[in-house]
Amino acid sequence: MPPRRAGFQVATVHVAHGHLLNSFLSPLINHRGDAYGGDAERRVRLLLEMVAAVRQEWPDELPLFVQLSCTDWVPGGVAIEDTVALARRLAATGQVDLIDCSTAGNSPTQDIPSLHPGYQAPFAEAVRRGARIATSAVGLITTPELAAEVVANERADLVLVGRGDYRRAGRWFPVSCSGRAGPLTHRLARVAARR
Ligand SMILES: Cc1cc2nc3c(=O)[nH]c(=O)nc-3n(C[C@H](O)[C@H](O)[C@H](O)COP(=O)(O)O)c2cc1C
Repeated sequence: MPPRRAGFQVATVHVAHGHLLNSFLSPLINHRGDAYGGDAERRVRLLLEMVAAVRQEWPDELPLFVQLSCTDWVPGGVAIEDTVALARRLAATGQVDLIDCSTAGNSPTQDIPSLHPGYQAPFAEAVRRGARIATSAVGLITTPELAAEVVANERADLVLVGRGDYRRAGRWFPVSCSGRAGPLTHRLARVAARR
């Protein structure tokens, strides 16, 4: 069944964590000699084509996210500067509403200096400021207070939570924020309203 008919309100093009589209972006992995490999311009080509194709199918009034690994955490790999440049390109297409800012997954030699709570939030902040597009922070956002700090200080437009939510059986926001589940839908609506 098409995602829209199934009732989804947001679609994400997954370009992170070493999955196929992510590997096209990284000079560590993409050694192609055709129009989809080589310099940065060629390495981003498949993603730009994919986003345009998805936008053709996904309703214009609904938000489309792109999830990126903002750094490979490897010298010579994708760095935050590359990601900001790519995010500017994606923003300029008018087809993407938000960049979901994760990291890593392309190389076994990746060296993540510290896995502290919110360790990827600076990437969401850098992309938001550098490319002037909405971003979400994700990864080890472990408390509602940390999530609130990231959003209140405009370091990201959204915070996406995985494991923290599992630990509290899907009640992370309603329980921990005393019924303040509203901000997420409110902010999603704000992202959508930019369209
Ligand atoms: C059980 C589990 C499985 C996951 N599987 C994938 C996966 O297959 N591919 C992927 O890109 N990310 C995967 N993720 C990462 C999530 O998409 C998300 O980025 C992450 O859970 C957010 O960080 P947090 O859990 O610290 O909040 C997985 C996360 C969990 C907890």
